[in-house]
Amino acid sequence: MKYGYFDDDAREYVITSPDTPRSWSNYLGSRLYGGIITQGAGGYSFYKSGGTGRVLRFRFNGVPQDEPGRFLYLRDDADGDFWSASWQPVGKPLTTAEPPGAGEQRSTVRHGLGYSVFDSSYKGIRSKATFFIPKDQAFEYWSVKVTNTTDAPRAISLFSYAELANEWNYRQDLENLQYSQYVVLASYEDGMISRRNSTRTAFSEMWFGLAGANVASFDTDRDAFLGAYRTPSRPLAVELGQCSGSQTVGDNACASLHAKLELAPGETRHVIYMLGIGSPDHEWSDGTDTLPPGREVMADFGTPERVEAELAAVRDEWRDAVAPLQVSTPDGDLNSMVNVWHAYQTHMTFNWSRGVSLIEAGDRDGLGYRDTVQDMLAVTHAIPDAVRERLNLILTGQTAEGGAMPLVKPLTHSPGHEATPTLEEYRSDDALWLPITVANFVYETGDVGYLDTVLPYADHGDATVFEHLRQAITFSLDHLGANGLVQGLAADWNECLQFGTTGESMLSTFLMANGCRVIAELAEQTGREEDAAWARSVLASLAPVIEGAWDGAWYIRGISATGAKLGSEELDEGKIYLEPNVWAAMSGTVPEERAIGAMDAVGRNLATEHGVALCDPPHTKEVPGVGLSLLVYPPGHKENGGIFCHANAWTIVAEAMLGRADRAYGYYRSFLPARYNDSAEIHQVEPYVYSQFTHGPASPRFGQARNPWLTGTASWAYIGVTQHILGIRPELDGLRIDPCLPEGWDGYEVRRRFRGMDLTIRVNSASALATGVRSVKIGRVTVDVEAEDKRGALVPLSVLKDGAVLNVVMG
Ligand code: GLC
Repeated sequence: MKYGYFDDDAREYVITSPDTPRSWSNYLGSRLYGGIITQGAGGYSFYKSGGTGRVLRFRFNGVPQDEPGRFLYLRDDADGDFWSASWQPVGKPLTTAEPPGAGEQRSTVRHGLGYSVFDSSYKGIRSKATFFIPKDQAFEYWSVKVTNTTDAPRAISLFSYAELANEWNYRQDLENLQYSQYVVLASYEDGMISRRNSTRTAFSEMWFGLAGANVASFDTDRDAFLGAYRTPSRPLAVELGQCSGSQTVGDNACASLHAKLELAPGETRHVIYMLGIGSPDHEWSDGTDTLPPGREVMADFGTPERVEAELAAVRDEWRDAVAPLQVSTPDGDLNSMVNVWHAYQTHMTFNWSRGVSLIEAGDRDGLGYRDTVQDMLAVTHAIPDAVRERLNLILTGQTAEGGAMPLVKPLTHSPGHEATPTLEEYRSDDALWLPITVANFVYETGDVGYLDTVLPYADHGDATVFEHLRQAITFSLDHLGANGLVQGLAADWNECLQFGTTGESMLSTFLMANGCRVIAELAEQTGREEDAAWARSVLASLAPVIEGAWDGAWYIRGISATGAKLGSEELDEGKIYLEPNVWAAMSGTVPEERAIGAMDAVGRNLATEHGVALCDPPHTKEVPGVGLSLLVYPPGHKENGGIFCHANAWTIVAEAMLGRADRAYGYYRSFLPARYNDSAEIHQVEPYVYSQFTHGPASPRFGQARNPWLTGTASWAYIGVTQHILGIRPELDGLRIDPCLPEGWDGYEVRRRFRGMDLTIRVNSASALATGVRSVKIGRVTVDVEAEDKRGALVPLSVLKDGAVLNVVMG
């Protein structure tokens, strides 16, 4: 079934049937003030942090999935009938007919980058509600145009409704009710609602107002607006056509302002609701940011012209943010994803890590180390300065001994003064992601000087960025197990596998080997011969250990504290795991026949029509000496044999590195959200963003995806498709063009920013080759691409200039 379509020109996903299998969300705003809005206008907002800056309340795991939210009610004052500007929460019978039949609502939702528009028609009244957060501002717009499409005058009441969190700390708000319900104050004065706490000044304050109409009535008390035993589907105030004028002292606040619109035939009225941080009447500061009084903000921003201009600015901002990499390939789904939504998702994971979604309640407030390091990969070409800032922060989350703090909290992080984790607390992989991301940053920006930047460690001491990388390897070297593999510690990438301080992880071993290779290459190119030799020697010392981990047809997953293998043919469960095998190939540190063997085993044992399972068979029993917290999950769920999309993205890279284009592309397609656009009932979640996982073959929910939006899948799938299938990769001396194209493709075009230059790359594969570049021309000049042992062609910096068009012929 189909619920909508990609409108690539508008950079929007258009939901034509809002009764989607689950709530389909969008993200608004920036890291200053952000929000989530679903196709039913459910969702919430947050100032700086989803966990400690909660503005709009959200009840996680509610029924329905996405309430409360930002609701606008329309009421026909002639007969008292009412509906909502989004289909939910009132939920009139839906139709796609225009005009809708009697009692039916037509409702289309356009999710765009940074805004969502709800276009509804009911009983001859059309409403167009646009929700967004203007650039660099700490307030949100709910802008609604109401049109009378009939030829008789109509009297329409318009009501806003949102539950304002009682407290900024979401746990206090939702759980500590004996406190939070007694500190909240909300009042109405001169057209504006002010919400604050009785105990603390300049804390948790917000305002709400409207422009474009007079306030006919108001409620600031939630229960007064809704009425006892009612839900947002049928608020008492809306039913009565009048709010009660409640002022809140304790219990729960809300923001409801009522406007009466007398609409002549064909007339449109534009009402602008605004919700912002701070006070209506005073300047407000949280110690870092100072915000003007709400009335001033409303005077400045509360006009139709300003709304249009601010929306245009948001649209332009995101057009520019995705512009640095735009593709045109024979695969329309790929184009829609890479050019618009996939790119947007990489920015949202960069912004919000794993902290704010319909699933992530804010508890994981802070930057998970490994997640953050990987999230940076996909946005470096687009926002190099923001990435440098984040890299600086995350490198200061590394400890002097080379491991890393599992979580870095940007608002309170204090480099040089953080406690050193115990060995048991360290994750064995965290710091091992650094070489990949730092190298990518240096290759993308050309800023080799960055490697000499001195940055503090989390606990004590400081070192250059390059030394930080070396130290990551040293940490692993210092913590090898009895078999020479890297100790697994509290977890490796797989949070559910705990090999501990006496068990060993093959994934971390490959990440360490990969780190050595990356560091050696970086060192060789930046005149650090000794470091290069050191990294190569560590790598060489790992070779026999790695070979010893070959199980016969694939690599083992690890060795338990008691010497038992995980991921071995010998076992009944967890015989084969994806991670070590895909990283064997990606690390480029094993003989080619081993890499091919490992990926063939993945293909034979783990690949399904919906993606590659993380392990097989899933576990039901303990494995001696390994902490298998994945046992909490039924077989086929999440890490226990689910299709973990993040790790699926690696299969694209691995197969492309092996030059097996059809496999790389086949894996890409197998978990590509857009390919489920016409079968959304199977995948259920948004067809425009990646999810954390899809239920695996052992689950009765096989094919259903879960945890959309905040996942490392976004970053790695983006790297997979752009740098490995399309094959455009930054190197220190230029841009490598190394396509790995599936059967039937005769080429593609990429527009990509590289070192401040906007380049167009046209690849022609008339002879239907998967890999190999015969020639590159810029204009009439054939570029001298050095013959080397690497695949593809390195187009040197010296021939690149802004606006250059590179014509690439495969061969
Ligand atoms: C989640 C975590 C990530 C972890 C992965 C696999 O996505 O955010 O850190 O690597 O699960 O367990």
